[in-house]
Amino acid sequence: MQEPERRVLTIYPICYIIISLYNCKIMTEVRAVQNPGFVIGNIAKGDDMWDRKAEIDHIWKSLEKTSVFLKAPRRFGKTSIMFNLFENPRLGYETVFFDAEGRNDPEDFVVALAVDLISNSKFKKAVISTKKWFKEAFQRIEEIGLATARLKLKDHVRQGWQDKGFEILSCVAESHKKILFIIDELPTLIQNIATKHENHAACEFLNWFRQIRQHPKLPEFRWLVGGSIGIEYILEKVGTGPRTINDFEIINIGAFSGEEGRGYVKALLVGDGGIKRVSNVAIEKIMELVGPPVPYFIQILASESLKAMERLRRTTLTPEAIEEVFHGQVLGPASKTYFMHYYQRLKEYYTPGLARIAHRLVLEVARCKRKGKQDLWRLFKAHSTEKPDESAFNSLMTDLENDFYIIYNYADKTYGFSTNILRAWWLRYHDVEVV
Ligand SMILES: Nc1ncnc2c1ncn2[C@@H]1O[C@H](COP(=O)(O)OP(=O)(O)OP(=O)(O)O)[C@@H](O)[C@H]1O
Ligand SMILES: [Mg+2]
Repeated sequence: MQEPERRVLTIYPICYIIISLYNCKIMTEVRAVQNPGFVIGNIAKGDDMWDRKAEIDHIWKSLEKTSVFLKAPRRFGKTSIMFNLFENPRLGYETVFFDAEGRNDPEDFVVALAVDLISNSKFKKAVISTKKWFKEAFQRIEEIGLATARLKLKDHVRQGWQDKGFEILSCVAESHKKILFIIDELPTLIQNIATKHENHAACEFLNWFRQIRQHPKLPEFRWLVGGSIGIEYILEKVGTGPRTINDFEIINIGAFSGEEGRGYVKALLVGDGGIKRVSNVAIEKIMELVGPPVPYFIQILASESLKAMERLRRTTLTPEAIEEVFHGQVLGPASKTYFMHYYQRLKEYYTPGLARIAHRLVLEVARCKRKGKQDLWRLFKAHSTEKPDESAFNSLMTDLENDFYIIYNYADKTYGFSTNILRAWWLRYHDVEVV
């Protein structure tokens, strides 16, 4: 027979284990190593950048051999990943980053490269000591300022930008062999060049850029490019097709895995939200409402849920409260800006006729949840003002898929909306089209 004291000592740990197991089942106490904050709309850097280790390792591995083209739908985290590589170089690379958005001329690309190189003390000497025209542009830069120097350089570069671009790169290559150039929004630049100078100028730029990547004098330069609009459509539009980028390894960036997504939701609620214990049902509700765990959408719902908790002075986050926030706040008029670009881009990206058809097809998929490819083809034909072209339809569908509006299911040949949030938003604000 056990003495009473020993019995208490034996029972106590057993009770503790049972209670702990019970707690584990319904509640998650997070001891987050990482403490990410909300960065809705900004580049996720440092602690705010969640995960993506596998993708980043993959990119570096590929860069050992070749340049990389990052592909992902809008708002999936391409720029954040690019910036991470920029800030944390590996393999002995120096990194240069620039955003090509808002530039319209091929010489803008050369000027941006030059300015980035010259702004980095490691390359400054190599660049400035080479060409007379370059020295002239950057003379007295302290006096005239970078913006004026940029304009002066653009004037110099305009004639023969191809040779001058190559000269800058080859002179840097003499002292720094391994440079990783990270160019965000390259497809937009190509589109802008085509709009301003016509398609042949965009083709010329693409051919030149390909030659640079292949040039035997620049064997260890690498290029990591990406952008928020699909490249295929643009290449087709300007008439080069994929051959001008076929040396890139394409790396697709997806949503987080379920496990990463759940971890991220917890870390946000505990870290920035200050909630000590987060119930698993609350996490599951967020995951369910968001659909594929895209960090941008997770942040929007988590942040709006926390704001509502504070407003209503609640201390716990329940699935019912999250559902309320989803319909009331996330899809509410005040949050329109979060999703507006998904709508706007159809107008910016396509000709008015194609934008109208694209809008109609996306709406059809949103309404029906799943829609057969054949039905959509019929709809496409019905709305086309020109002679309907099957390849134009296929290319439009691929584009809409790339842009994350819809996803194709091979098994039953149907399209569905890619995320619950976007579908709900689309139906709420854009379901006014006459059938
Ligand atoms: N790894 C991450 N961790 C945390 N948040 C992230 C992460 N990646 C992306 N985000 C969130 O998603 C938003 C969009 O990220 P980012 O700008 O990197 O995506 P993108 O794919 O470049 O978007 P776009 O297609 O509009 O250029 C960011 O503002 C940030 O809130
Ligand atoms: Mg981006």
